[in-house]
Amino acid sequence: MPLLCLASPKGGVGKTSLASGLAHALHRTGRPVFAIDCDPQNALRLHLGLPITDPEGYLARLHLRPDWRACLRRTPAGPDLLPYGETDMRGALATSGLIEREPELLAGPVRAMLADPSAIVVVDTPPGASAALQILAPQAALVLAVLLADAASTALLPEIETGRFLGRGTLGTLVGPKLRVVLNQVDRHSRLSVSAAEGVAAHLGARLAGAISREEAVAEALACQRPVGAHAPYSTAARDIEDLAATVLREMPVAAPAPVAPAVTSSLFPWSRP
Ligand SMILES: Nc1ncnc2c1ncn2[C@@H]1O[C@H](COP(=O)(O)OP(=O)(O)O)[C@@H](O)[C@H]1O
Ligand SMILES: [Mg+2]
Repeated sequence: MPLLCLASPKGGVGKTSLASGLAHALHRTGRPVFAIDCDPQNALRLHLGLPITDPEGYLARLHLRPDWRACLRRTPAGPDLLPYGETDMRGALATSGLIEREPELLAGPVRAMLADPSAIVVVDTPPGASAALQILAPQAALVLAVLLADAASTALLPEIETGRFLGRGTLGTLVGPKLRVVLNQVDRHSRLSVSAAEGVAAHLGARLAGAISREEAVAEALACQRPVGAHAPYSTAARDIEDLAATVLREMPVAAPAPVAPAVTSSLFPWSRP
């Protein structure tokens, strides 16, 4: 089942940047990609290029039981996005309680998106344990835990390995086999960053799904409201994200995209050819 969740015990590590980068890279393979923002910061829309003035979204309005299809936006970057929507702390807590009581409000739309076997759903989550992750992680084909290549992240490895950061209970055991780590912001010119990355790689082996370089282009891409693959396709970080997308596709079986029907053209009207 091609549901991919991005998670992390910490904030500010690059979950949203990687969610948008992966959604964009996976969309470029010709598959339908849905991105869902489960983080009340509502930032995924910025990375995918929705107008900053558009406050609408799904989870922020969940108490009104909106039709998720009406909340879906086609983004300039390509993937369809279900934005979180604008909210405040009280609203975010209320939404979290609501999906805990009625998980179908979130699981239902995800199931509908995955009805197309060639579709991929990429979910961005808030830092740490969350109701959204509790609901979606058991359905996920892969959960990518994002860590920085630094000492603090290395110290968090036991949290990741036990699945403790996903919350209490059996979720860690359930999700463990499909949990992979991504190291973000690896600085190839910093001895500390490189040795932290090497240490994590040696420790995790195949459970390390990829490493993404630290590069100004990633921050610039956000300033331009584009995924880095669209903003600076030849940057090292964009290529690292493409490699990560290839690993993701290898690890979670997704049907090939449906062939595009040839455009109907007439030899009488050759200029009508695309
Ligand atoms: N590989 C990278 N290189 C440089 N800056 C990065 C990289 N990844 C993320 N950033 C920057 O780090 C900050 C936090 O990233 P973000 O994706 O919002 O993290 P999170 O979603 O985990 O809070 C942003 O300013 C982003 O531009
Ligand atoms: Mg984020």
